[in-house]
Amino acid sequence: MTTDDLIENRHDDGFLNIADHDSYIHGVPHASFARLRAEDSVHWTTPTDGMRSFWSVTRQADILEANGKPEIFSSAKGIRIEDQTHEEYMARRTFQETDPPDHRVTRKLVNPAFSRPAISQYETMIRQLAGDIVDAAVAHGSFDAVDAIAKQLPMMMLGRILGLPNSDLDWLVEKGDALIGNTDPDFTDHVVDKMDSDAYRFMPFRSPAGADLYDYAEGVFAGSKPVDPKGVLHRVIDAEKGLALADFKNFFCLLVAAGNDTTRYSIAMALYLLTRHDELLGQLQSGKVDDTAADEIIRLASPTMHFRRTATQDTVLGGKSIAKGDKVVLWFVSGNRDEAVFADPHRPRLDRNPNPNVAFGQGGPHFCLGMWLARLEVKVVLQVLADRLAGIEAVGPPRWTRSNFICGVKSLPVQVHVK
Ligand code: HEM
Repeated sequence: MTTDDLIENRHDDGFLNIADHDSYIHGVPHASFARLRAEDSVHWTTPTDGMRSFWSVTRQADILEANGKPEIFSSAKGIRIEDQTHEEYMARRTFQETDPPDHRVTRKLVNPAFSRPAISQYETMIRQLAGDIVDAAVAHGSFDAVDAIAKQLPMMMLGRILGLPNSDLDWLVEKGDALIGNTDPDFTDHVVDKMDSDAYRFMPFRSPAGADLYDYAEGVFAGSKPVDPKGVLHRVIDAEKGLALADFKNFFCLLVAAGNDTTRYSIAMALYLLTRHDELLGQLQSGKVDDTAADEIIRLASPTMHFRRTATQDTVLGGKSIAKGDKVVLWFVSGNRDEAVFADPHRPRLDRNPNPNVAFGQGGPHFCLGMWLARLEVKVVLQVLADRLAGIEAVGPPRWTRSNFICGVKSLPVQVHVK
């Protein structure tokens, strides 16, 4: 395959507006990102939805520099491109929208439950669930790979870690989709850039689903919605310096949004790549890429494409003068295909090692809390697929999310051949 064949989006002539949600409906506009990295790597970008213009940081070195300086590139004025009033920010902020040292207080509270040793204790459970999910899917022969496989495991696991009842998980997935997919009509009736969302401006993602999740979280906080006392939510409420109600509601929404679609779209990317590259299944079956494959899949998926910072002072980044108050968007998705860091960046190389990608926001204080969980889920699903499948082919085109924030294959009809 040539580089052109490797890049998913065939409608991208290198000049798409990377802020426009519609630029993503055929896949990430990687040719446009590549042109920016080469020609204008810190690019003044004007959104199509009336938001203030912002700096797009597209090279990995500049992303790492900004991410490592939270005192200059702050998260405490919002982390999405959306402009917020101070009241909106205060109503919706989570610890992800704070800077050190405040950030450390909550991060310390939740870190132990998501640490590598804590997550590795779930491996047997993940393997069991992934086996059941894949077995149930492949029994149909033909099915939608995202619905039947990629969507299933992340919420089941998050539900178990948080201590939520199984009967609520489908509802929570639906609400999480509506939050994070707030620009995609497949996931919400309130497409945020196409209608007046003012009534929901104090809700996460300006979404009515945020109100439903707030109500649910209030029930958990008050004890009327019982959760497993061993789960993270119970511990966060019960801790001596636990979260207050408003912080808890936003923390809950953050976990439902962040812990669900991101891992789904990573698993979906694995399935999509398996349908496009015949050699990958054999490589997985060799057992030689068990420790490297998941990271390569997550690099190529980069499901949360960016997070934003705000300059706290006049500064320079990548040769550009940035003024105090400017919005600065770190495009992790672009840093992950930076040809200065990765040889043949668009090609899946399951044995890529080292693989210094920034899909989890590495290099900054906010690096992903769920990193070890997501990596383990992707690793195990890949092993289970390798164990069960003799072949997999797409029998229809993939459909991609409409969003400049969360990227992924949202449906992929496949036919499988089992061993
Ligand atoms: C492949 C899957 C995932 C990807 C690509 C991903 C990506 C990211 C990125 C890029 C950040 C950094 C945000 C920033 O710089 O502001 C982040 C933070 C975060 N992620 Fe993930 N994530 C994934 C899975 C998960 C899961 C499974 C959970 C929950 C269990 C989770 C929870 C969080 C939280 C709570 C934060 C905020 C951490 C902080 O501010 O200290 N993520 N994630």
